[in-house]
Amino acid sequence: MLSKKLQDALNEHIKNEFYSAYVYLSMSAHLAALHLPGLARWMRLQSQEEMAHGMKLFDFVLERGGRVVLKAIEQPPGQLQSALDVFQQALKYEQKVTDMIHRLYELAVKENDYATQVMLQWFITEQVEEEGAAGEIVEQLKMIGKEPTALFMLDRQLGGRGADS
Ligand code: FEO
Repeated sequence: MLSKKLQDALNEHIKNEFYSAYVYLSMSAHLAALHLPGLARWMRLQSQEEMAHGMKLFDFVLERGGRVVLKAIEQPPGQLQSALDVFQQALKYEQKVTDMIHRLYELAVKENDYATQVMLQWFITEQVEEEGAAGEIVEQLKMIGKEPTALFMLDRQLGGRGADS
């Protein structure tokens, strides 16, 4: 059985993952408006991944006999500029999420909840991948600078992202 403290923290993080989906969907719309359909598609798939992360926690809470309480989701930030700016913000955001996952893990340790620790290990690994992917794109966009042909090529390449990667 989940402790009340852990259940509350997991419910809070379900909201955080759905908020992430909202943030990335907003970024996707912005990239589409910048005429970068490949990057927009990449970000839309990222948004779908975040929904899946939220559902993973949702199912875990239910499986443990806990109660899911869905919280209000805030409006995502609207101040987005270039593609580089978007991916820099995405990277910063993922670093924040990593920190949240680590705090959750610490709480699961404190509460002696082994099942939650094991479940969160998946998220810890996932965060390494997510920070790595966003960081790589940031570096590529920095290299590209204001070179439109290179940006066009990167857009085509990232637009080929598979739905499960
Ligand atoms: Fe669900 Fe991007 O962390």
